[in-house]
Amino acid sequence: MTDTDKTKAASSMWGGRFAGGPAAIMQRINASIDFDRRLYAQDIRGSKAHCRMLVKQQILTGADGALIQDGLDKVLAEIEAGNFPFSHALEDIHMNVESRLAELIGEAAGRLHTARSRNDQVATDFRLWVRDAVDGMDGALRELVAALLDRADEHAATVMPGFTHLQTAQPVTFGHHMMAYVEMISRDRSRLADARTRLNECPLGSAALAGTSFPIDREATAAELGFARPMRNSLDGVSDRDFALEFMSASAICAVHLSRLAEELVIWTSSQFRFVTLSDAFTTGSSIMPQKRNPDAAELIRAKTGRVIGDLNALLIVMKGLPLAYSKDMQDDKEPVFEVADTMELAIAAMTGMVRDMKVNVEVLRAAAGAGYATATDIADWCVRALKMPFRRAHHVAGSLVKLAEGKGCGLEDLTLAEMQAIEPGITEEARAVLTVDSSVAARTSLGGTAPARVRDAVVAARQRLKEDVK
Ligand code: ARG
Repeated sequence: MTDTDKTKAASSMWGGRFAGGPAAIMQRINASIDFDRRLYAQDIRGSKAHCRMLVKQQILTGADGALIQDGLDKVLAEIEAGNFPFSHALEDIHMNVESRLAELIGEAAGRLHTARSRNDQVATDFRLWVRDAVDGMDGALRELVAALLDRADEHAATVMPGFTHLQTAQPVTFGHHMMAYVEMISRDRSRLADARTRLNECPLGSAALAGTSFPIDREATAAELGFARPMRNSLDGVSDRDFALEFMSASAICAVHLSRLAEELVIWTSSQFRFVTLSDAFTTGSSIMPQKRNPDAAELIRAKTGRVIGDLNALLIVMKGLPLAYSKDMQDDKEPVFEVADTMELAIAAMTGMVRDMKVNVEVLRAAAGAGYATATDIADWCVRALKMPFRRAHHVAGSLVKLAEGKGCGLEDLTLAEMQAIEPGITEEARAVLTVDSSVAARTSLGGTAPARVRDAVVAARQRLKEDVK
């Protein structure tokens, strides 16, 4: 078909009352085929289910049904082989497929759209697509969790400084730090699972907005397409995009988690920190400064979070002023969702690679853990335990010890017993034992605490949940 023929074919689908064709600029603003062609598999799957149901309900003859099924298989094969003639004049994936079907099988193709509208068609296709995207993302996050768990297990007892305000706070273990991300990513997976449950209702059969006068079987199409049930209200069926918003908001929160870890990697790999080293596989050099090893992948993950948040924002803004039911604005729902899915796929894979690949500089971490008076809380806790001191007073004692050590330019453990007793006479030699980073972390055995034994238990429990696929 020539382009003019295709324009005619397009208007033959809806152009009964139109005398002229669209302006060139109208065609450009209207056409979604450049991006919604990504829905081809879902579109054909939906059409096949719809067709089968129409035959079963005796709305279509078995002969027409067979022609349509066969024709749709051919269209699918053409698209997959890369020789399908996509056309702008045919606007979108739905009309491109239907028009090609007509070329292949003739008039029967025109019967496929009985009891259906592009409004319920696109809503169905898009839900199917987003459902696949949710499943793909969940699988990728599972890999990331597995990678974090392996590193946590390996470094359950590797001490490092824990920070608040990015100031040294108390020693923690590297494994404990990794396990915090396991928690975050696990919540992301649970949010996706939750979104998937609400998404998994079928809009097909809502037709344009009001339902249809044909005796369709919506339960059948919903079941064939793997949906839990049909959507209950036809107006909602064609105008709801919550599923896209939920997918993007769960993604945006996940992207924020990835971005925080990316930010930590950027800090940790700096020559001032040197907590971890990234391999050649995940860094780049500088064209002018030979010593540099830049954490580009981490920086780009951090940057791409902006896009994901932006895409969520874009669709929220598209939707916020729309009256029921379908408005063409909703055609603009796809690009943000596609970008989010693509971006997340890349970011999660890159993060998984970095986590698996990074070298943890155990000695640097140990040295840093001991600096900055990280065990000051431990001496305060000792005063509470051994001297029955109220914590507020113990806090003062520890503060005075820090001040003294700071003045002398040494660590808390370097103070003599006499110096300590000058501040608090009750302090004994035994108190000095709590000042090491190892005893500090080992003591934090409270539920969810950083003690290596606790971290190991947490790894075992998380691995079990992963194995049982608890979300
Ligand atoms: N390409 C359109 C979209 O993605 C399909 C639905 C068209 N519906 C309509 N009433 N014009 O939203």
